[in-house]
Amino acid sequence: KKIIIINGPNLNLLGVRETSIYGNQDFISYFEGLKGDFQELELHYYQSNHEGAIIDKLHEVGFSYDGVILNAGAFTHTSVAIGDAIAGIKTPVVEVHISNVHQRETFRHHSYLAKNCVGVICGFGLNSYKLAIHSFV
Ligand code: DQA
Repeated sequence: KKIIIINGPNLNLLGVRETSIYGNQDFISYFEGLKGDFQELELHYYQSNHEGAIIDKLHEVGFSYDGVILNAGAFTHTSVAIGDAIAGIKTPVVEVHISNVHQRETFRHHSYLAKNCVGVICGFGLNSYKLAIHSFV
């Protein structure tokens, strides 16, 4: 199976950024471990700080891949356009968050994406991504 993890804005700074919320590990090293854990899968990774680039990537993979795991960062709470992109593609999308967004500021409680996703996983640290992969295997 072909699965891609798409990370949105500021997630390139994982391991450096707000470590009390997001932890000390950078995503590239975490992703290397994931590939070891799921050798039977074809796992891909993409990160962008740009809303349109995330939409372009969803269009690119969304008719051939078996799954998308999307942490759209703050765009989760603002982007009607990413929500529409998810609705427009064929590949199922799982929304993930590292932190439990429901324990945080009220503006993080709403997602413009969740309605068009098969499910949402949040609050398990980087393990949220692994749980999302399990939903596809
Ligand atoms: C996040 C939660 C968002 O509210 C925030 O803007 C992020 C990261 C998470 O993974 O916990 O950038 O998506």
